[in-house]
Amino acid sequence: MSRVARAPGRVNLIGDHTDYTGGLVFPMAVDRWTDIRFAPSDRVHLVSADEPDPVDLPLEIDDPTHVSPAWGKYIAGVVSEMRPAHGIEGSVTTTIPIGGGMSSSHALQVAVALALGFDGSIVELAQLTQRAENRASGVPTGIMDQLSIAAGVAGHALLIDCGELTVTPVPMPEDVEVVVRFIAHRTLVGSAYADRVAECAAAEREIGPLRTASASAAGSIADPVVRNRALHVVAENQRVRDFAAALAAHDLRTAGELMVSSHASLRDLYETSTPAMDAAVDALLATPGVHGARMTGGGFGGCVVALTEPGALTDGWIVTAVDGARVVETDDTDQG
Ligand code: GLA
Repeated sequence: MSRVARAPGRVNLIGDHTDYTGGLVFPMAVDRWTDIRFAPSDRVHLVSADEPDPVDLPLEIDDPTHVSPAWGKYIAGVVSEMRPAHGIEGSVTTTIPIGGGMSSSHALQVAVALALGFDGSIVELAQLTQRAENRASGVPTGIMDQLSIAAGVAGHALLIDCGELTVTPVPMPEDVEVVVRFIAHRTLVGSAYADRVAECAAAEREIGPLRTASASAAGSIADPVVRNRALHVVAENQRVRDFAAALAAHDLRTAGELMVSSHASLRDLYETSTPAMDAAVDALLATPGVHGARMTGGGFGGCVVALTEPGALTDGWIVTAVDGARVVETDDTDQG
């Protein structure tokens, strides 16, 4: 027998660029996984089926940003935050498309933390790996990705309140498919993501926390760019609530319409979409059987997500909701 730390990818159905102001998001952990088959060691030594060079790290790391090869920065971020008592040696495999917008790097970090023996709560696991990501990448990303990977529930999307750090599983209807289409590789490093975080902070200095702000308060902000960012966040939080209610009522038409207005808001008010993402969403919406479609995640590339009737789309990754990250014992003859 050997031990495998297994972490799924994620896709966000609605609620983007709300997590870092303590807002609402609605992701699900999906049936693509990063696995680390590991054994105890006095260092952290990992090889990957997708990388030419191994990562070899000591257990004491102060600055993860100088680590090479590049994929080692994610791992070093976890090691430096966690300061584990022992290391691991092992191998990484993944079925999450790398750089495809389904949080492959976050899944790797959550799997590393579990393999290194993290034994806190799901929320603490998400917080640790969020700090690790922020430190390693220098980008002030929120907690949605890590929390959805850690807290996934099979057959359910997750209504997450990123202020309270509560997770409410919401059953996915059985007669829908979730389809992810990859648009373009991107990294949030060097993107306008950090600018958006700063613009939200500017909005909050003027009107207080966006998580409880009204649309009229957001509309009163003097600077037009900051105003637009705040208007997006306030409306997007409400769309998440409405989307969860629509799914529970099996009102797929309303759910689809909410996805479309979310995309329009991210495109026009938040300016995180791209012409290629807009075109992909338009093409999806013109396809019979598609209830709704939108850009998903950080934007500036990445991917789009559609909610469809079963079989409506054949081009893209059809994903289903799965349980969150865990360590499993496997038979050594079972390499899958
Ligand atoms: C990226 C970040 C998340 C979140 C999304 C946008 O995926 O890692 O924290 O901010 O963008 O919703």
